[in-house]
Amino acid sequence: MAKLWGGRFTQSTDSFTDHFHSSISFDSRMYQEDITGSMAHAAMLGKQGIIPADDAALIIKTLKEILVDIEAGKVTFDEKAEDIHMNVETILISRIGDVGKRLHTGRSRNDQVALDIRMYTKKEIIAIKELVKNLMVTLNDFAANHTETILPGYTHLQRAQPVTLAHHLLAYVEMFKRDYDRLCDTYKRTDVMPLGSGALATTTYPLDRYAVAAELGFAAITMNSMDGVSDRDFCIELASTLSILMMHLSRFCEEIILWSSHEFHFIELSDAYSTGSSIMPQKKNPDMAELIRGKTGRVYGHLMALLTTMKGLPLAYNKDMQEDKEGLFDAIDTVKMCVPVFTSMIATMTVKKDAMLNAAKGGFTNATDAADWLVKQGVPFRDAHAIIGKLVLYCIEHNTNLDDLSLAEYKAISPVFDESVYAAINVNECAQARKVIGGPAKEVTTAAIAANKEYFKTI
Ligand code: ARG
Repeated sequence: MAKLWGGRFTQSTDSFTDHFHSSISFDSRMYQEDITGSMAHAAMLGKQGIIPADDAALIIKTLKEILVDIEAGKVTFDEKAEDIHMNVETILISRIGDVGKRLHTGRSRNDQVALDIRMYTKKEIIAIKELVKNLMVTLNDFAANHTETILPGYTHLQRAQPVTLAHHLLAYVEMFKRDYDRLCDTYKRTDVMPLGSGALATTTYPLDRYAVAAELGFAAITMNSMDGVSDRDFCIELASTLSILMMHLSRFCEEIILWSSHEFHFIELSDAYSTGSSIMPQKKNPDMAELIRGKTGRVYGHLMALLTTMKGLPLAYNKDMQEDKEGLFDAIDTVKMCVPVFTSMIATMTVKKDAMLNAAKGGFTNATDAADWLVKQGVPFRDAHAIIGKLVLYCIEHNTNLDDLSLAEYKAISPVFDESVYAAINVNECAQARKVIGGPAKEVTTAAIAANKEYFKTI
């Protein structure tokens, strides 16, 4: 096959070279964006009188047919045509000859590829936003059923203070709200139309870049052609946004894995989201959570690869930039698999309320509340801390807990204690009495869940 750029060459490329520098195996997924972009470019060329209007019409009609044929699986791409851009152009020329050869007027593959990635990325950001929204709605609904489910909150993975499961889940809703925001923000900087940048220095034809942007649904156009062809910030930003999202999923997965262990037994995952062992008949493994935790690493890797690919590149386009796509696509694909699996895994898990409550009752998670009770009787906080510390030590030595000490035992350490301490250190009460905004109390989480529902209506 003759190369579209073959004019100044006397020898054909080495066939392994063709294989080496071809990107069609991974950029063919942008066929729709490439064709839609070309249609908008051709329409503008015709309208501006840069090419005959009839030619523009024939090009657009034929591009539409090519799109239909690709979607019907009737087109095979050729590695020798390098990438999706030249594959489509080659097919166009094979169908309508000289007229097809006019399409690339005033355009370069450099601004073409920049356009295609932006269009593709915009589409995928919208899809990922929907998945994240769905995850948030699921978590928020799940939380609504657990405003009174008590479990220990941890610091240093040591039992710290009792919280409610709603409170714990709503912490993740907050993280995913920020992820959603970051996706919206990344979208803004992706939604800028680079076509018209040409190879790097625009063109002498009177292009109407705003018309192309409007036709393709872009909010703005790039304002410097050298930047227009060589900016991949939006890819890096998306990889970063997705890395943070995966980090949140991974933290949650870590908890799911811990919680489904025999040691915690706070939850049981549905069989649909667990697997067995080929040798140990008793096993039910949280593989999906582990895989999501594991796949987080590859998304981080793509972010580092993209940053590293770009760090030494002089202006403007360099072929290194062809390396942007596989990592970006894999990061997108990975997130698009992980988020829905995670959502269903959470939606179908069973909560072991008794195990959670028992865990909250052990480990002195109510010690702070006991100290606070003393403070409310007028004891300075530092003294209260010391008194409860002594009581905890006493409990450890006698293998008991604060709830089960007799009033005489309390009074032996401080005469301030009376019967009302028992109600104050009940773990249920400890969680439900924390009514500060952002806290675990039922009235607080119920309000947060309602506010989240209102927010979901706006996104
Ligand atoms: N396949 C190329 C890429 O992905 C398209 C742009 C190639 N431009 C060039 N002048 N070689 O970046």
